[in-house]
Amino acid sequence: MSHIKNLLRMIITGKYPNLRLRRNRKFDWTRRLIEESSLSSNDFILPIFLIDGKNKIQTIKAMPGVYRYSINKLNRIIDKAISLKIPMVALFPYTNSKLKDKFGSEALNENNLVCKAIRYIKKKYKNEIGIMCDVALDPYTSHGHDGIIKSGYVDNDGTNEILIKQALLQAQMGCDVIAPSDMMDGRIGKIRKVLDKNGHELIQILSYAVKYASNFYSPFRNAVGSNNLLKSDKKNYQMDFRNNNEALREVALDIKEGADIVMVKPGLPYLDIIRSVRNNFKIPVFAYQVSGEYSLMENAIKKKIINKNAVLENLISFKRAGATAIVSYYADRIKDFLNY
Ligand code: PBG
Repeated sequence: MSHIKNLLRMIITGKYPNLRLRRNRKFDWTRRLIEESSLSSNDFILPIFLIDGKNKIQTIKAMPGVYRYSINKLNRIIDKAISLKIPMVALFPYTNSKLKDKFGSEALNENNLVCKAIRYIKKKYKNEIGIMCDVALDPYTSHGHDGIIKSGYVDNDGTNEILIKQALLQAQMGCDVIAPSDMMDGRIGKIRKVLDKNGHELIQILSYAVKYASNFYSPFRNAVGSNNLLKSDKKNYQMDFRNNNEALREVALDIKEGADIVMVKPGLPYLDIIRSVRNNFKIPVFAYQVSGEYSLMENAIKKKIINKNAVLENLISFKRAGATAIVSYYADRIKDFLNY
């Protein structure tokens, strides 16, 4: 009890009616002066979906406002990102189902969509904007899993052997930030080693260290064409959403193995996890506002169920929870809700 009294004494330095917390809220200018969290373009990473062919800007059913781009139309969205001063884009391919197989072989094809897009962006824009690429096999496998399957189970060590090749290929193409999103054990250390051995010691590793087996990924899986293929869930490699301590173990391991940045994913239902990673480690913590979060919000706004200012409230909650940056499908529209 006395502990609570002490705490209150620390927080409350007066008494109503002398003390009125509403004074600081009376006008917009004072609210802006005392704000504790804010957002700028530096806080965003824009995900971009890629599609083969020419002159395509394709809508994605569950994600109004988000599109798949053919390589020759990428300049549209990259120009926009650069003009908004978004520091980095994340590339995700919609792979033609004919190119998919059990091993995700297309991941290692230097002319796959991601490789072509990296070369295009680097040639045209140099280092004006960063490129981040997922390391995982799910856009390329005929079963939709992030790794190869052995006796009905996603095989950790066999998958790692492919992932290190995928990561090295992306680095050779010019990718700046390698982002393993596969949740295999031990892959960060192995990827760091292979990058360093091949002269890529400055390529960063952003580990999706804390990735939950979430129900909020479905629109993304539609966007990359893996949803219909996936017959089961990903619970034997992605994390159980009941767990918190395990998230800290994942982060600790990945930092030891050489991660430069860690990610928590999804975002909104996991703000507590972002906060606890932030409190326990001194490393940049990114958060991913995933496709399902985006779809819920954007569809509700479209139907006028909620007001579009909910987007800012949602994104600010990531910063309040301690996120360093946010991967968001709203990143190309920050002008709509940030003060410019
Ligand atoms: C693939 C990957 C996924 C997402 C990013 N990378 C889906 C999954 O793990 O099934 C989800 C992103 C989103 O939903 O926006 N490993």
